[in-house]
Amino acid sequence: MLKVQPQPVLQISGKASLTGEVQISGAKNSALVIMAGALLCSQSCYLSNVPNLVDIDRLSQVLRALGVKISKKGDNLELNCQDLSQYDAPYEIVSQLRASFFIIGPLLTRLGIARIPLPGGCAIGARPVDLHVRGLKAMGAEVFIEHGIVHAQLKGNHKKLQGARIYLDYPSVGATETLMMAATLAEGETIIENAAQEPEVVDLANFCRAMGAQIKGAGTPTIAITGVERLHAVEYTIIPDRIEAGTFLVAGAITQSEISLYPVIPEHLRAVNAKLRTMGVQIIKEDTQRLRLIPGVLKPTDIETLPYPGFPTDMQAQFMALLSVTQGNSVVTETVFENRLAHVAELNRMGANIRVKGHYALISGVSQLSGAPVMATDLRASAALVLAGLAAEGTTIMQGLHHLDRGYDDLEGKLRKLGANIQRTTLETPLF
Ligand code: EPZ
Repeated sequence: MLKVQPQPVLQISGKASLTGEVQISGAKNSALVIMAGALLCSQSCYLSNVPNLVDIDRLSQVLRALGVKISKKGDNLELNCQDLSQYDAPYEIVSQLRASFFIIGPLLTRLGIARIPLPGGCAIGARPVDLHVRGLKAMGAEVFIEHGIVHAQLKGNHKKLQGARIYLDYPSVGATETLMMAATLAEGETIIENAAQEPEVVDLANFCRAMGAQIKGAGTPTIAITGVERLHAVEYTIIPDRIEAGTFLVAGAITQSEISLYPVIPEHLRAVNAKLRTMGVQIIKEDTQRLRLIPGVLKPTDIETLPYPGFPTDMQAQFMALLSVTQGNSVVTETVFENRLAHVAELNRMGANIRVKGHYALISGVSQLSGAPVMATDLRASAALVLAGLAAEGTTIMQGLHHLDRGYDDLEGKLRKLGANIQRTTLETPLF
């Protein structure tokens, strides 16, 4: 008889009412790339406000395998890359974390060689790395893929990567970050055009500049980097996570609750706040790092995900949950990833009325969702299902917590502090 492993699940009691202030953690998508950026420095980097996430632990494993000494105390992380020697990233760890690919730029520009397993696709899309590879080749690297491994090394007698002018066909966050890091120790100037402008790109640039890198224009479509000889030790604080903050704003809106968030950087939430205000929610900037949400009668709206400063794809699933209980018709268009609407089927199991046509989701708001057993399909979908569970009538049981734990630092604990009735428990037999 097949022994079924007990399933960790979240049990969420609906029609929650929240109150109080939630503390926002450091940004996952900053911390991960800045940890890779630490490889550029041959001394120690001291990072603070690092979130406690599975993805952070996995990247730490990859870096340790390369010879990096890492110690974590609470939300502080010390990385000493003095003895960086390995350039082969271990497949069994890299295959669990796509963000491991961020190490290719630093390894190549620091050691002149890097061998990284090609990151696989994931639930939301194929996640190709052609823009990263094309840019590194433009900087004089020899890059080829063999047996699923990306081999990158300096050409012939080159001692360093060469500065280049690179135009990105798409403002890819990862490609911008890979090439910006590679350029910090290259020969001469690199210009990245049509660069990503996300706050996490700016955070990485500020971290590299704090180590002595010469970078101008981060946060605009054109970034100029002038290579330097070496980068020095640094202490750096990661910015607050704008996507976690946005997730809690939706938690307040979907449960008609007044809550506040701290710390946040309001400018990073401009598109999200504009959408919530359009929907009838009040967002008040209480001080430079504190937002207060005052709920209102929700009005339907249309959303199109775009590169920053457009509406973030990482907030699409959460807004889908909110729009599913907003009277009227709304349209969500996902333009960034090719398969990021899997949460629609699960929301419909809870009584939502959403139809998918290609990249479009047509939502007809219902007055009430009903709690149900659901399966998370990816990181932000898991957050969306928690939000739907908070608003639904009855109890929702969510499986697939490994997705949630990759990107949220104690989401259920923070929601409980706001008054939600949400518990992590195990089911002896899977629900379905
Ligand atoms: C980063 O992924 C984030 N991850 C994602 O967050 C986020 O959704 C995404 O940026 C967009 O904002 C991290 O920072 C660790 P992209 P990344 O390169 O860098 C295509 C989350 O939920 N593309 O901007 O992989 C790609 O297929 C995660 O926290 C190429 O075609 O995103 C996609 O369609 C999910 N070729 C689009 O660009 C390439 O070489 C955007 O991808 C690279 C990307």
